[in-house]
Amino acid sequence: MRRILIVGNWKMNKTASEAATFVRALSERLHSVSTQIELVVAPPFTALQAVRTALEPSSPLQLGAQNMFWEDQGAYTGEVSAPMLVDLGCRYVILGHSERRTLFGEQSDGIQKKLRAALRHGLRPILCIGESLQQRESGMTDDVLTQQLNETLSGFTAEALSGITVAYEPIWAIGTGKSATAEQAVAAHHTIRRVLASTISPEQADSTRILYGGSVTPHNIESLLASNQVDGALIGGACLQVESFATIARVASIARSIGV
Ligand code: PGA
Repeated sequence: MRRILIVGNWKMNKTASEAATFVRALSERLHSVSTQIELVVAPPFTALQAVRTALEPSSPLQLGAQNMFWEDQGAYTGEVSAPMLVDLGCRYVILGHSERRTLFGEQSDGIQKKLRAALRHGLRPILCIGESLQQRESGMTDDVLTQQLNETLSGFTAEALSGITVAYEPIWAIGTGKSATAEQAVAAHHTIRRVLASTISPEQADSTRILYGGSVTPHNIESLLASNQVDGALIGGACLQVESFATIARVASIARSIGV
């Protein structure tokens, strides 16, 4: 059974002190959330230590990072490595987000190196893939998803894939307030699972979590999670307010407990 995973991607928001105040308030609001689901916050690098310190041992929140470099150490000005993230208590790392791809020129070969480095150090990567509006409108969604998966996961064993979560994030839905419909998300998740089944193994495809991301809010989370194809959500804007993230977490934990 795939456990629901809800991840808050803070992007470039909140100072270290704002972050500490925020997670304390958020943890308070999560008491009623089922431990059946996993909750992750991914603050900027500069706030990881502050968030870690602010989290009580009993908090259900786990720590994630938004990116990393593939080398462990060395002359790579401005970069942060997997061992550095592990040392700060990170369990997850988001890789290949479309903002990294489009604004910072990340490409599949580099994302694959990052995936391998993350797995080597025991981090759980969340691999983001998704099509642009133009690609969707020209009927290329399935091809784009297939290509992105093949380029980043080629050569991975089933064992390696067991540490990876895939996030389907249509670029046109990110930060636009225009979420994919549940039907669109489910169709894309089917495609992703089919590709994983043929390139890795059907069993592994079946146990890999696939999240949806793109304008997820407290209002649409329930319908997005209504299909058991959608194993959770990667949330940007709506994770920056205590109340909206806490509501999403509560709805998600109910979705799991009634077994939808
Ligand atoms: P959004 O961002 O929820 O603000 O659309 C999602 C993401 O970029 O992961």
